[in-house]
Amino acid sequence: MNSSNFLKALNLQKHDTPPIWLMRQAGRYLPEYQKIRRDYKNFLDMCKKPEICARLALQPIERYDLDASILFSDILTVPDAFGLGLAFYEGEGPKFSNPISEPENIANLKSFDLNTLDYVFRAVEETKKILPVDLPLIGFCGSPWTLAAYSIEGSGSKDFKKTKQFLSEQPQALKDFLNILTDACFQYLKQQVLSGVNAIQIFDSWADLLTTKDLETFSLIYTRKLAQMLKDDHTTKKIPIILFEKAPKMNIQDLVFKDLSCISLYWQEDIKNASTTLRNKLAIQGNLNPKVLLESDEIIWNETKKICQIMKNYPGFIFNLGHGVTPNIDPKKVEVMIKAIRS
Ligand code: CP3
Repeated sequence: MNSSNFLKALNLQKHDTPPIWLMRQAGRYLPEYQKIRRDYKNFLDMCKKPEICARLALQPIERYDLDASILFSDILTVPDAFGLGLAFYEGEGPKFSNPISEPENIANLKSFDLNTLDYVFRAVEETKKILPVDLPLIGFCGSPWTLAAYSIEGSGSKDFKKTKQFLSEQPQALKDFLNILTDACFQYLKQQVLSGVNAIQIFDSWADLLTTKDLETFSLIYTRKLAQMLKDDHTTKKIPIILFEKAPKMNIQDLVFKDLSCISLYWQEDIKNASTTLRNKLAIQGNLNPKVLLESDEIIWNETKKICQIMKNYPGFIFNLGHGVTPNIDPKKVEVMIKAIRS
């Protein structure tokens, strides 16, 4: 048994004060992060230093006394392991030098070698060494769809035009690629668990590109398969799985499935409705619009309290934002929100 409120909430236990963690809790909004980040030209080089990753994961825990830590890494380490050549350029976000542009690129992909991601597993081990005892560590991966979208687009994008074109012209090749990514994500998450993570979050950050039908066909099928693989494996079967879907064009009851422990609600979702639908079935985390943290202390306080009030009697509520903390947020504003939750 563990004494962590976060893991208890994932098992649908009720708490007077909800456990708290934040998507993208370690990152550019923290001056202590910036201080370390300055030593690296390429963000990925920093991700390859396990001791540094551990220190970065610990920073928000030390500052805010949060209830869970998240591995410091990135979802794009997996496509990078396939040889797509990931780099992060200043102010531009991620870019692949060898993106997937035609079906042949998928047929000719080199096979996935878990050893190339050894730096991630070592980061898990180092982080576990320095985290407070009993503080859970969340491991993660991107959903197969979100990883495919980045791999095809070659970078972040406003409209993901290439990805949408690939989907409509080469659906079978895309499905082959999604299967390859699903298998890689399974191996990757299993090894994170073997290295010490206590829960898993799957980020479907580009779910919003898909119509209702395509969300099922190109994303959920593979995420469910990935979850099933984790539940069928004796090392990972007990690990709680959290799913984040960005702005999904689907009702919450159609989105969730039996192998999930928790749904991470995007800020546009109606948490009241979700709480009625999912009560006693799934834990719920998230939903506060990260932009609220740009407002006055009073607004932050009130908006935070609103969510706490709605979720007061919900068994398995975890406080989180409805998407990641953005770099423009003042760390002091996060403190206001946390005070409101804990008061
Ligand atoms: O506390 C944490 O969450 C840190 C670990 C973490 C990072 N990325 C570190 C990071 C996690 C869980 C992620 C997930 C991630 N990465 C997602 C899913 C979450 C979401 O926001 O939807 C996505 C889509 C990515 C891809 C990615 N990585 C982008 C688009 C960028 C550039 C812009 C941005 O959003 O920060 C990154 C780089 C990145 N990953 C940074 C950090 C701290 C910033 C790098 C820098 O300092 O230059």
